[in-house]
Amino acid sequence: MPFDDAAQQTFADGETRAEPKRVFMRTFGCQMNVYDSERMSEALAAEGYVETSNPADADLAILNTCHIREKAAEKVYSDLGRLRDIKLARGKGGKETVIAVAGCVAQAEGSEIVRRAPAVDLVVGPQSYHRLPELLARLRGGENALVETAFPDEDKFAALPKRLPAKSPTAFLTVQEGCDKFCTFCVVPYTRGMEYSRPVSALVDEARRLVDRGVKELTLLGQNVNGYHGERAEGDAASLAGLIRELAKIGGLDRIRYMTSHPRDMTDDLIAAHRDEDKLMPFLHLPFQAASDRVLAAMNRKHTADDYRALIARIRAARPDIALSTDIIVGFPGESDEDFEATLALVSEIGFAHAFSFKYSPRPGTPAATIDPQVPEDVKRDRLERLQQLVEAGYARFNGALVGQTIPVLFEKAGRRDGQLVGRSPYWQLVHADAPVSMIGQIVDVTIDSAKANSLSGVTAMPI
Ligand code: 5AD
Ligand code: SF4
Repeated sequence: MPFDDAAQQTFADGETRAEPKRVFMRTFGCQMNVYDSERMSEALAAEGYVETSNPADADLAILNTCHIREKAAEKVYSDLGRLRDIKLARGKGGKETVIAVAGCVAQAEGSEIVRRAPAVDLVVGPQSYHRLPELLARLRGGENALVETAFPDEDKFAALPKRLPAKSPTAFLTVQEGCDKFCTFCVVPYTRGMEYSRPVSALVDEARRLVDRGVKELTLLGQNVNGYHGERAEGDAASLAGLIRELAKIGGLDRIRYMTSHPRDMTDDLIAAHRDEDKLMPFLHLPFQAASDRVLAAMNRKHTADDYRALIARIRAARPDIALSTDIIVGFPGESDEDFEATLALVSEIGFAHAFSFKYSPRPGTPAATIDPQVPEDVKRDRLERLQQLVEAGYARFNGALVGQTIPVLFEKAGRRDGQLVGRSPYWQLVHADAPVSMIGQIVDVTIDSAKANSLSGVTAMPI
């Protein structure tokens, strides 16, 4: 079905101009998808699209999807049902609507999506979204049900338009994509492909552009970010620590973080960077997934619980105040009560500032999905509940210990209450404090006076 380029509108001065096309974007899943959505909307802005938060106004609706667990993947289909109804209603009013599915469900399911949801016009994988303008032009030319999930030879990052002005003083920067670790529960090696690291010079360039536009804090993203090995101008490969050292030289960039890391790739130079590099924030997201060595082996994690303990000890020796965050899976096939107790014990022993915990979700095509027996759903649910209680008690402890301390907060945006701003501590917690909007983008000392499980509040040490 052909699509109009843009509706014409007659303005008060009598001139006819194109009304902007509107794009609605919903992002599921991880920060890599948040980064990809930003880059897609920049690519579309160059084509005259403006963003809308109302799908009923959208000429183009994109779902940027996540395939990591079944629940996230299934949500896409319920959203597609709603978008189909909107498309039909808009069609009755003479308006075209393009529905596109991007991200990891697009990559994993491809044309199956169009079969299950025929209202979908376009399926575009995470390695192909720089081709969105060209794909939209092909739809306008009369093609339909386009599925673009190849891993093209050209570099998507080089093909994308330059970064637009920053909307926030914090930004994500994807430095690495894909994963070669093949944990037996995980779809990432299949959806995002093998590890690829962007060259140092391209990243320094993109970081400089972001800093020129007001970004103060960068979070370097990668599915296995500490496996980063990007090409340097000298021809050899830089480690993540090497990249961080390069980025830290950028004047005006104040804070650097990175996620997600694998314990096997926590090298000595990266641990040393936590000791020596002031701009590298004292926060580390380091999944351990499970604490039983038998389960870890079945997960193909390539480390034991003791390896993880020893690693944490080395990291804490380098940076004693570091806030640790982790991912944990409960109910992996074959996980016994005793195995699960080991997970609880490790959580208590380490004392995480933050943790994401998940019920194991069998993913098609992954080795663990066919392991017999799977853990029953009610057992998984009970384990998750117990684990979450424990990790939440951990948040309260970590946050509570900051009450009375004065910490530097980078204010990011206005808070819900008038006169209040929200920012982040070096340890990544959200911090609320009364301060003028002129302080957005500034790092200000805040004395913490109260702590909740998910945020801190305090007063700015500077007179306002
Ligand atoms: N089921 C449950 N959780 C999963 N994760 C990855 N795959 C699965 C799965 N099949 C979790 C892991 C990973 C995080 C991003 O998602 O904990 O670190
Ligand atoms: Fe998935 Fe992370 Fe394991 Fe890679 S290291 S396979 S992304 S869980």
